Amino acid sequence: MKYLLENITCKKKIDCIIMPIFKNYIIPEDTQIINNLTNNYIINFIKKNHFQGKLNNLITLYNINVPNLIINKIIIVGCGTQEKINRMRFHNIINNIIIYIKKLYIKECMWLLVNLKIPKYNIYWNIRDTINIIENNLYCLNTFKKNKNSYNIQKLLFHVNDIYDNNCIIAIKHAMAINQGILKAKNLANLPPNICNPQYLVKQVYKLSEEFPESITIDIIDEKSMNILNMNAYLAVSKGSKNQALMSIIHYNNTNCNTTPPIVLIGKGLTFDSGGLSLKPSHNMHEMKYDMCGAASIYGIMYTIAKLKLPLHVIGLMLGCENMPDGDAIRPGDIIKTMSGITVEIKNTDAEGRLVLCDALTYVNRFNPKYVIDIATLTGACVIALGHNISGLMSNSHTLSKQIQQASSETNDRVWKLPINDINYFNQLYSNIADISNIGNNNAGSAITAACFLAKFAKPYKWAHIDIAGTAWTYDEHNQAIASGRPVNLICQLLLNNIS
Ligand code: BES
Ligand code: MN
Ligand code: ZN
Repeated sequence: MKYLLENITCKKKIDCIIMPIFKNYIIPEDTQIINNLTNNYIINFIKKNHFQGKLNNLITLYNINVPNLIINKIIIVGCGTQEKINRMRFHNIINNIIIYIKKLYIKECMWLLVNLKIPKYNIYWNIRDTINIIENNLYCLNTFKKNKNSYNIQKLLFHVNDIYDNNCIIAIKHAMAINQGILKAKNLANLPPNICNPQYLVKQVYKLSEEFPESITIDIIDEKSMNILNMNAYLAVSKGSKNQALMSIIHYNNTNCNTTPPIVLIGKGLTFDSGGLSLKPSHNMHEMKYDMCGAASIYGIMYTIAKLKLPLHVIGLMLGCENMPDGDAIRPGDIIKTMSGITVEIKNTDAEGRLVLCDALTYVNRFNPKYVIDIATLTGACVIALGHNISGLMSNSHTLSKQIQQASSETNDRVWKLPINDINYFNQLYSNIADISNIGNNNAGSAITAACFLAKFAKPYKWAHIDIAGTAWTYDEHNQAIASGRPVNLICQLLLNNIS
């Protein structure tokens, strides 16, 4: 979709106008302009037909005859009681409009909801959210289908007073770059595991470096190199798979200085998690192709920041790996020595994410990071605790978690902080034969025990862990899983906040 800034006084020919109205025939400011232009045609029509402006009621007026303007259609959107409008309601309204116009033959529309007065909400976020919601809604999974889904809408014109308003221009720029990142993340994540394996991830990483040769360089660590590095926990997970484990390191530097401590982002990239010998039940096992959503989000984030040329030093790691049962697979009971030297008793081969992550956490210490964030579909327990709307946040740094929470509330890409400083949770990882066990001694609170496990490897630096097990994918109207692209928006915002 294209998004432009426009003004009704400059553009005389419009296919469709989308116009908000509150209950009791209250017309917002911008709508008033059009109403005046139509010599009160609109307000008269609304009153005559008793259109109440109830939340999400929609009517379409066709063949409007307006002096000085050519307008084919006007869609009037009920926004409910004016005093009750807030960000959540606004999102809901946009969502309903896009579902509605997707089905119509409308190529271009003028959008008047951009100037709606909403408490604690400005035009910058209005535009960012609008583009986000629309793009999310227009996303279709077409690659493997003979009958492709399609829609007609191609262009949206934000009706603004000043089409050169820098705030609006930047909002569109940010939203477009972030949504392209979200799109990259979704497309990668939605691919089936027979196509999207660790090797495939690496191919995409090469493409990224070719697209941004001036700011991105990459390193690929294969199993041979992992062996030399003693990344035995990562290797252990991959042992049962015919697909080689591959860790991609994406270096992005657009600062003039080579010594700026980098922000390091690590994404769990299990292209399939069968559970290994601790095999998962078959119900919904196919959803474990999404166990690489952390890595996919890193890919999207790196794309966005390169596109925006942010003056930052960021290193993104995608931990490509596959967890399969096999004669060579790791067994429950095996003991491995991690790269850090800490020994781990594998009590459950399905708790593999933390094994892959712990060696990566040790590895990144060489970069002298400003801070490290790992993003992982780590625990089913996190889904039980927080559901499908809120990601789990755990951190060893108060300042870093505050920054993440700030970016989260700005973008509405929600997180909730869970505590990891309670010694009882650490103690659950006790093993009588190795330094630690890879699971807690009972299932209770296992989103936290998983983070406690990681925290042992993230001691040298500021670190946060985002568990996206419940948020990395959602369910469509047919209850089918589909990648969400989260938390690309959140992390891009965190990075944007880091430069100002
Ligand atoms: N990838 C899964 C976590 C997961 C489960 C993500 C469901 C999304 C939806 C992870 O590797 C896993 O299997 N975790 C286990 C840990 C347990 C064995 C301690 C879990 O959560 O059941
Ligand atoms: Mn698992
Ligand atoms: Zn997993």
